[in-house]
Amino acid sequence: MRLTKTDLSVALLASALPATQAACSLPSSYRWTSTGALAQPKSGWANLKDFTHVPYNGKHLVYGSYYSNAYGSMNFGLFSDWSEMGSASQNQMSQAAVAPTLFYFSPKNIWVLAYQWGATPFSYRTSTDPTNPNGWSAPQPLFSGSISDSDTGPIDQTLIGDDKNMYLFFAGDNGKIYRASMPLGNFPGNFGSAATVVLSGARYDLFEAVQVYTVVGQSSPTYLMIVESIGARGRYFRSYTASRLDGAWTAQAASESQPFAGAANSGASWTSDISHGDLIRIDANHTMPVDPCRLQLLYQGRSGDSADYNSLPYRPGLLTLQGASSGGGDNGGGGGGVTVPRYGQCGGQGYTGPTTCESPYTCKYQNDWYSQCL
Ligand SMILES: *[C@@H]1O[C@H](CO)[C@@H](O)[C@H](O)[C@H]1NC(C)=O
Repeated sequence: MRLTKTDLSVALLASALPATQAACSLPSSYRWTSTGALAQPKSGWANLKDFTHVPYNGKHLVYGSYYSNAYGSMNFGLFSDWSEMGSASQNQMSQAAVAPTLFYFSPKNIWVLAYQWGATPFSYRTSTDPTNPNGWSAPQPLFSGSISDSDTGPIDQTLIGDDKNMYLFFAGDNGKIYRASMPLGNFPGNFGSAATVVLSGARYDLFEAVQVYTVVGQSSPTYLMIVESIGARGRYFRSYTASRLDGAWTAQAASESQPFAGAANSGASWTSDISHGDLIRIDANHTMPVDPCRLQLLYQGRSGDSADYNSLPYRPGLLTLQGASSGGGDNGGGGGGVTVPRYGQCGGQGYTGPTTCESPYTCKYQNDWYSQCL
């Protein structure tokens, strides 16, 4: 590759940035590209759903749900690149952990898997080896409350911590998002039976699959919540932001026409639904950190139909944010974001770097795994 003066200044600028800090802010409108379906369910399973993902020793560790004649849960064998997800093993859990949330609770050096539909509305199990689908502890209660105006009861938990507390967020298929909390020192433990409504709206606008993340590299604390909605074109995600986990949530990309991720902006041609999944976190820890310079969403999509909701043919897919830009973060200097020089990689499945080419070049598709500035 030819190094130009511009390349050098970009390289110098990049090396001047603290390595752990992102130089990007959340975009005000989102535009993604998508992979196709990354894996097919193994024989006997109708689908693969409800993904939770952590980086683990440089590889991808994914847990999810499946439906056969009942809901169960599974993990994939570790894989290095999204192109390998389709050939990774699919390992059934002997004790179901449906709609799982996986993370590493660093204060106690323990992995936590939270899920729904155990003995209490939400339960958790712990492990020292999260790659073993059957190496989890006995279930413990995580939340034992009930909610009104909900056919499902509490559904689709997620967990996140700041430096003082752990928070539980969940949905109810009823237009409400709920929150409970406890001091970090009490976790892992039971949040009890009380929860506060933190968002309230139309039933289909705030339906389910809530996820909450810490946005890294911002000048002040920024948290991102995504919530799955039901629209005219299919399932999509709305986004909300807050400056405190116990604070108020402000709508960010919260319509079907300008969603966080949905048919309007996913770039996916195989699915209208962008449904239950997980943003790709940069670390497995309980702060659920995401980097706005390289946002990716592991989601469930489907190209077929079924009379029975439970058997809908959901498959994993991956969205990659386009045009992530600097300017709003700690290191924002008014630049237009890092650009890729001629012949540099600007896209491809699993690629998480910058996607805008240096002028006058444009990003050209070479194959599913590689796009190049030409
Ligand atoms: C969690 O991970 C992020 C990103 O690597 C890191 O900055 C942060 O210090 C970690 N926090 C804890 C409590 O482990």
